[in-house]
Amino acid sequence: MSDPQSLTHEAVAAIARAQTEDELAAIEFDYLRRKKGRISSLLEGIGGLPAEERARLGQAANEAKRAIEAALAAKRQEHKEALLADIAETEAIDITFPGRPLGRGHIHVLTQVQRQIESVLESLGYKVELGPEVETEWYNFEALNIPPGHPARENWDSFYFTPDLLLRAHTSPVQIRAMQRIKEPPIYIITPGRCYRRDPPEATRIPYFTQVEGLAVDRGLTVGDMKGTLLYMMQSLYGDDRKVRVRPSYFPFTEPSFEFDVSCGFCAGAGCKSCRHKGWLEVGGCGMVHPQVLRNGGIDPERWNGYAWGFGIERMAMAKHDVEDIRLFYESDLRFLEQF
Ligand code: PHE
Repeated sequence: MSDPQSLTHEAVAAIARAQTEDELAAIEFDYLRRKKGRISSLLEGIGGLPAEERARLGQAANEAKRAIEAALAAKRQEHKEALLADIAETEAIDITFPGRPLGRGHIHVLTQVQRQIESVLESLGYKVELGPEVETEWYNFEALNIPPGHPARENWDSFYFTPDLLLRAHTSPVQIRAMQRIKEPPIYIITPGRCYRRDPPEATRIPYFTQVEGLAVDRGLTVGDMKGTLLYMMQSLYGDDRKVRVRPSYFPFTEPSFEFDVSCGFCAGAGCKSCRHKGWLEVGGCGMVHPQVLRNGGIDPERWNGYAWGFGIERMAMAKHDVEDIRLFYESDLRFLEQF
């Protein structure tokens, strides 16, 4: 006949051998279930025994139960630890292992060129001045000596919000804003920024683009000062072998006015596909600030004069990197952008 002690030995030995939770659960069921479990069965018919016997057997059965429960709990804990150790072994996370590098982007080529222009001109003492992209008709046209109905308005056809409010067609309105803000010359500023024109997209123009405007207001400035500044800027950006030239032109806000070209870096002026066989690349307009424009900016043209230029940053980037189609800058095609 089984007694509590040998039952306990048997159970504890079985528990020690058990490999899985299923086996442990089976042992638990076998020995400890309330009805007809091996321990509870010990107490069957206990009622017929003398009181002393009864108490002894009850206590022994209780001890057996506790011992088996303790053995089960210890074994389960052992299993759990083994499992964790196993996970630690096979799925270890080495926190000292270098992370997967993030795909790093870089500055867009137009921003690169803009920053290069800024740092070259800052080295000459120019300050960066910014203006709004939504302009009033007065700043975009009238203050720049382009009255209503003037045919030159057609060159700067833009997008209107109201008859008085439009997306600026050039950065020239910031000339006026800068003069009004600074008031007392000397003024040496550049103003980079987005401009808009109602032009259908094609290889050389798009409805949104960026310009960098320059304005110098001081005493006795000459076309030579302007040309020297722009030559310095171009050679700093493109290399000392570049040449520049000015051609007579017309802008209502400068007098005299010029188109400004830089020699093609690809063919050194001989003419090639990149410069459309001209040997030169057009980057923008420039000239001596019209006295009326100074007056509109609150500056006395009897005491001060100035020069200004407005260059397309896309055009400058095209000249620098031999890009044939301006639309490429805005197509976000990484095969193009990653080259720069
Ligand atoms: N604003 C002119 C344009 O967009 C360029 C320019 C600026 C010309 C300053 C002369 C002086 O075409």
